[in-house]
Amino acid sequence: MQNFLDIHQTSAVDLRKMINSAHTMKQARKGLLKGTPDPDQPLAGAMVALIFEKPSTRTRVSFDVGVRQMGGQTMVLSGKEMQLGHGETIADTARVLSRYVDLIMIRTFEEATLLEMADYATVPVINGLTNRTHPCQIMADVMTYEEHRGPITGKKVVWAGDGNNVSASFLHAAGQFGFDFTFTGPQPLDPEPAFIAFARAKGVKINVERNPEVAFEGADLVVTDTWVSMHDAESAKERRHNQLRGYQVTETLMARAKPDALFMHCLPAHRNDEVTSAVMDGAHSVVFDEAENRLHAQKAIMRWCLGV
Ligand code: CP
Ligand code: NVA
Repeated sequence: MQNFLDIHQTSAVDLRKMINSAHTMKQARKGLLKGTPDPDQPLAGAMVALIFEKPSTRTRVSFDVGVRQMGGQTMVLSGKEMQLGHGETIADTARVLSRYVDLIMIRTFEEATLLEMADYATVPVINGLTNRTHPCQIMADVMTYEEHRGPITGKKVVWAGDGNNVSASFLHAAGQFGFDFTFTGPQPLDPEPAFIAFARAKGVKINVERNPEVAFEGADLVVTDTWVSMHDAESAKERRHNQLRGYQVTETLMARAKPDALFMHCLPAHRNDEVTSAVMDGAHSVVFDEAENRLHAQKAIMRWCLGV
C-alpha cells in the first residue's frame, strides 16, 4: 500500500513503471466502449472514495470511469456536503473513511489537508490537486508526450504563464524523468524556489526566461495553464491578465518552437487568454489526448497504490 502524493516523492523507477502500465492498459482497451470492463479486474471488490473540495470535470470523470473499468466501485463526495466542511478534523475523517473504503483520492486547497489525510488514513491516498501541486496531471502529460514523440528524457519543455500547481508538478517530473524545463512568465508568478531546486538537484537544466520569444526557441513541448487558478482570489484576475498578456501562447510564438513541438494544456482552458483558439485547435495541440490519458495514467497510479 502506497500513497501517491507527489511526483518527487515517488521513485523514478516506479514512475516509469506506471507510465508503461498506463500505455499497456490503453492499448488493451482499443475499440472497446468506455463502460466495457478491462479484461483483468484488478480492483474487483474495491471501493474508492473520490473527495472534491474544488470543482472538477476531468479528474472526477476519469477516476470514476477508471475504477469502474478495473472492476471497482466509487463514491464521489463533495467536501461541502461532508462533515469535513462542518469542522470534523481531517484526521478523524481519514480514520473513518479508511474503515469503509480501500482507496481515497482527494482534491483540496491546502497541501496540509492532503498530508493530514495521508498521515491518518490506513488506505492509500492520491493527490487529485492541491494549491501547490497536481501530480496525476503530469503523469498523463508525460504519457501523452511519449505516445506521440518517444522518450521525454533530454527534451526541452517550456512552460508559459503562471508558475502554479501544475508547473510545480512539471518541475518535479523534470527531475524524475530527466527533461529540461524553461519557465517564461513575470517574476511575481515564478514557481516556488523549492520546486526549481528539486529539479536542479537532479541535474536537469531549469531556466527562467522573461522573454517568451527566447524561451520558446527549440522547444519540444510547450505547456500553459489558466492564468487564474481555483485557489486564486477572483480579485487577482485583472492584475493577472495584465501581468500575463505577453505570455499568451500564439501561433507566432509556437513558430519559434521545433516544427514538431507539441502543445499541452491540462484544461479547462480559457481560449484567447492563456492560449489562442488557433493553437488549441492547431497541428501542435494534443490537449484532448492529454485529457484522455488522465484515465489511463490514473488507472496505473491506483494499481500501484494498491499493489494490484
Ligand atoms: N485538468 C484537470 O484536472 O481538470 P479538472 O479540473 O476538470 O479535473
Ligand atoms: N491551475 C489550475 C489547474 C486546474 C486543473 C487550478 O488549480 O485551478
